Amino acid sequence: TDLSQFIAGLPKAELHLHIEGSLEPELMFELAQRNNVAIPYASVEEVRAAYDFSNLQDFLDIYYAGADVLRTRADFHDLAMAYFARAAADGVVHAEIMFDPQTHTDRGIPFAEVIEGLLSAMAAAEAEYGLTSQLILSFLRHLSEEAAFATLAMAEPWLDRITAVGLDSSEVGHPPAKFARVFAAAREKGLKITAHAGEEGPPAYVHEALDLLGVDRIDHGNRALEDEALVSRLAAEEMTLTVCPLSNLKLCVVNDLADHPLDRMLARGLKATVNSDDPAYFGGYVADNYRAVAQARGLSRADLVTLARNSFTGSFLPAEAVARHV
Ligand code: ADE
Ligand code: ZN
Repeated sequence: TDLSQFIAGLPKAELHLHIEGSLEPELMFELAQRNNVAIPYASVEEVRAAYDFSNLQDFLDIYYAGADVLRTRADFHDLAMAYFARAAADGVVHAEIMFDPQTHTDRGIPFAEVIEGLLSAMAAAEAEYGLTSQLILSFLRHLSEEAAFATLAMAEPWLDRITAVGLDSSEVGHPPAKFARVFAAAREKGLKITAHAGEEGPPAYVHEALDLLGVDRIDHGNRALEDEALVSRLAAEEMTLTVCPLSNLKLCVVNDLADHPLDRMLARGLKATVNSDDPAYFGGYVADNYRAVAQARGLSRADLVTLARNSFTGSFLPAEAVARHV
């Protein structure tokens, strides 16, 4: 349709994408075979059938298990190239991709294998598609702050190629306060800061992300809407929210896309953006997310343009690069 083509043709940045969450079942099977790794599924259809989640933890259990097929730098390169090809087709001209090093280093995969594979794909995507990208090293919040510090230390030789640190995995019970010191250390090293907050966790976790981590962006932020004072603060600070409609639906953060708060966020003056989170698991890449929420909430073309503009102004690109995109 017209709107679908308009969305795909709209230049956009993707700001909330877990590269491990872009592992399609077909590539999972290919890598399982390449690396001689057993997987608990007989077919691609069986994998897809298993992607039926009632909450975040349900998803995370399957997502961490799927990542076991990723072993070598070639695997990480192929994973990221497959994402960049899909993203480029969706009008993504800049992507800020998260990776979860602890998911791999805890299985004995060297940090260097992970990051070198991703970096070589990032260079290839720029050459092939003109798509620029940056890396966000994300700490797993169900693990300790000490483990996060060890991960930051491992990253030291590559800090000039890492833009930001993030915080993901099981939110409830693992508040931002648990990681205040390691985020302060990352900030001192010149890294930008983002954190998942208010996906399943309460508004208090969004307050903590602002006050204790000093975030430059909030990933998700849906539950901030329960706190009027917090909404006013996020609007006043022009804090970017990286919203993920199909993820919210699949993880039951919303019961129906017709209830999705994206347009209410915009109406309240929040700098919301649209992103795919874990597209291989949630049924769509970034343009699918724009389409689904546009249809469910009756978004106008002007709303879609605002969302795409917010994706650049909320990016970690330098001001002169943002100016070239908006
Ligand atoms: N890791 C990958 N996707 C995530 C999400 N939506 N929330 C928390 N951790 C994640
Ligand atoms: Zn996420």
